[in-house]
Amino acid sequence: MELVARSERLSLVAPSMEHLDALCAMWSDAETMRYVGKGLAWTREEVAARIERAMKSHAERGMAFWTIVRNGDGVVLGQGGVVPIEFDGPEIELGYRLGRAHWGRGYATEAAGLTRDHAFGALGVGRLVAVTYPENVASRRVLAKVGFRETGESDKYYGVHAITFEMTPADLPERAGVAGA
Ligand SMILES: CC(C)(COP(=O)(O)OP(=O)(O)OC[C@H]1O[C@@H](n2cnc3c(N)ncnc32)[C@H](O)[C@@H]1OP(=O)(O)O)[C@@H](O)C(=O)NCCC(=O)NCCS
Repeated sequence: MELVARSERLSLVAPSMEHLDALCAMWSDAETMRYVGKGLAWTREEVAARIERAMKSHAERGMAFWTIVRNGDGVVLGQGGVVPIEFDGPEIELGYRLGRAHWGRGYATEAAGLTRDHAFGALGVGRLVAVTYPENVASRRVLAKVGFRETGESDKYYGVHAITFEMTPADLPERAGVAGA
């Protein structure tokens, strides 16, 4: 397992087919996927294709939707990271998704904070964007907690109506550098 970054309770590790079974169990759940992509659960083939893409992106650019694993017992919690996107111009998007069993414990905030610190630090990213469905109140809260600013609404990302967010190192919260701050 190749470590990308580590915080108190969790680690981001390089994407791998070893995580396929755990991720399939999570992303085949309609409730979990309600606010991800087009809002539909993914088949095993779709999950595998995305892991494949993440492996390639990680190898080529050092950016990807990495696997989030819990420190200590190695349980797969979900996926999160940063990916280059191009809708009207190149941007770096931060995102995360957790299996339903792991919601409500601050893991998304911790993973987003860790990803943010890794992006602005080791990866030298100057600006991050994020998008959520308007109804995804928990995710909007996570983004606000790690320092993102809401910038408006847009239909340009992924063909869905979304709230848009952005963040630069100047927006870092007071406890910058502390993942999960
Ligand atoms: C959205 C998601 C990432 C949140 O993960 P999580 O680990 O439960 O989030 P955290 O515990 O770090 O923080 C959630 C925050 O939202 C709040 N929250 C959760 N559900 C809420 C709701 N229905 N209404 C208002 N606030 C809510 C929590 O109280 C918490 O804020 P607080 O710390 O100020 O109390 C997780 O539910 C998930 O993976 N969902 C499915 C995939 C997804 O939607 N991904 C994001 C796509 S943009």
